[in-house]
Amino acid sequence: MNLDFSQIVPYIPFILKGIWVTLKFVVVAIIFGFVLGTILALLKISRVKALNWLADIYTSIFRGTPLILQLMLIYFAVPQLTGYDIDPFLSSILAFGLNSSAYVSEIIRAGIQAVDKGQTEAALALGVPYRLMMKDIILPQALKNILPALMNEFVTLTKESALVSTIGYLDLMRRAQVVGADTYHNFEPLIFVGLIYWVLVFVLTTAGKLVERRLKYSD
Ligand code: ARG
Repeated sequence: MNLDFSQIVPYIPFILKGIWVTLKFVVVAIIFGFVLGTILALLKISRVKALNWLADIYTSIFRGTPLILQLMLIYFAVPQLTGYDIDPFLSSILAFGLNSSAYVSEIIRAGIQAVDKGQTEAALALGVPYRLMMKDIILPQALKNILPALMNEFVTLTKESALVSTIGYLDLMRRAQVVGADTYHNFEPLIFVGLIYWVLVFVLTTAGKLVERRLKYSD
C-alpha cells in the first residue's frame, strides 16, 4: 500500500475552488427545477386535460431517460442543431434543472393533493379566487408536508452534479480526476472530494431539518 496524503497538499486550493464551481450551478439548477416543477405540478392538477397530458409526458421523458444522456444531448447535440456553442455551465443548469423539475413536479402534485379537501371547499365558499387560494392557502400547507421529500431531491441533485465532470466542467469530481492524473495517485484526491461532498450534503440536510423544525413550531 502506498498512501501518501501529503502529495495532494499543493492541490488543495485547486480542489477547494471546485466547491464554489459545483455549488454555483447546483444552486441555480435547484431554483430553476423548483420553479418549473411547481408550474408543472399546477398543470398536472389543472382541470384542462391537455395540460395534464403535457406535464405527464414531460415527466415521463425526463424521468425515463438517464440524466447523463440529457446532459450530453444538451451539451453536444444542441450545438449541432442550432449552431450555438453552449458552454458546460449553461448545459449543466439546463440539464439538471429540467431533470429535477420532473421529480419536483411529482412531489408537489402529491403534496397539493394531500392537503385536506375542506381547505379548497372553504376557500371557494368564501369566494377566494383560485390563484390566491393556491398561493396563500394550499401551497404553503403542501410545502410543509413535502419538505423532507424536497430536501431529498436537493441532496440527490448535489451528488448527481458529479456527472458534469463528463462534459469538461471543472467541478469537484473533475478536479479530483485532474489531481489523480497529475500525481498518479487517485485514491487520495477521490477520498478528499468524497469528504467534501459528504460535508456539503450534511450541511444541506441539517439546514433542511432546521427549517422543518421551524415550520413545525409555527403549528
Ligand atoms: N442517476 C439518475 C439518472 O441518471 C439520477 C436522476 C436524477 N434524479 C433526480 N432525482 N433528479 O437518471
